[in-house]
Amino acid sequence: MSRRGGRLAQAIGGEHGVAGAGGGTGAVAGAVVAADAVFGGGHGEPYRRLLAGTTTGALDLRSVDGTTDAFRFDAGSWVAAATEADLTALDGASGPVLDVGCGPGRMVRAAAARRLPVLGIDITPHAVERTRVDGSYALVRSVFERLPLEGRWQTVLLMDGNVGIGGDPEALLRRCAALLAGDGCLVVEVDPDPDLDVATLYTVRDDEGNESHPFPWARIGLHAFARHALAVGLVVTGGWSVEGRQFVRASAPGSAG
Ligand SMILES: C[S@@+](CC[C@H](N)C(=O)[O-])C[C@H]1O[C@@H](n2cnc3c(N)ncnc32)[C@H](O)[C@@H]1O
Repeated sequence: MSRRGGRLAQAIGGEHGVAGAGGGTGAVAGAVVAADAVFGGGHGEPYRRLLAGTTTGALDLRSVDGTTDAFRFDAGSWVAAATEADLTALDGASGPVLDVGCGPGRMVRAAAARRLPVLGIDITPHAVERTRVDGSYALVRSVFERLPLEGRWQTVLLMDGNVGIGGDPEALLRRCAALLAGDGCLVVEVDPDPDLDVATLYTVRDDEGNESHPFPWARIGLHAFARHALAVGLVVTGGWSVEGRQFVRASAPGSAG
């Protein structure tokens, strides 16, 4: 969050720095998943290496059961400044903005640069440390845990396929709907394949062969997103594609969002 976000700063005040848990939610497709199984953790720690600057570049998201082809995350961009394509997610956005799964914080910084009060949350402490490096606001917190300003966020961001967090998109969207203000807007980067709808166990692997523990994740395109959104009381109000990426907006029916 930008230093200008006075009221939001007050709201998160004492909570700055509280560590949280609870990324993995238990069973996916009948498999038992470690309670601490979260994006890119364990084994070769590819995500931690990326955040530490030990490796750069891409991370391959691989389904353990081979359900989908590997998806190549441009993970190097997460530790860089927001791109023009990233910035489209903030066009017309109002604050306060909550960046769910903020990683090292490029969208938190981008929102603050637009003078929007913004908070990042991420379950990975190293990611939050990097977000905070320049004084930006971020909490080590799962989106499924108690958060500041529940029901009052004007914009909730799920970038970089973060609609996959927890491996249950409907549960995640229900949670995001509860976080939003009545006239708030959810901005989501979905998979470029509109028909994709897969929830299973994934790993991420870097180009040096460092691979994470399996963790529950989902990959969904526009159609599955619209269905899940409707199920949690949101409607799609817009969508756009840029540089091969697909974004969508959703809000409560009849709201100005
Ligand atoms: C695909 S990466 C997104 C990177 C990020 N958007 C960026 O700009 O760098 C997924 C992120 O979601 C975070 N994450 C995973 N489960 C989470 C949860 N339950 N709550 C909050 N963040 C979570 C991971 O730690 C990771 O940083």
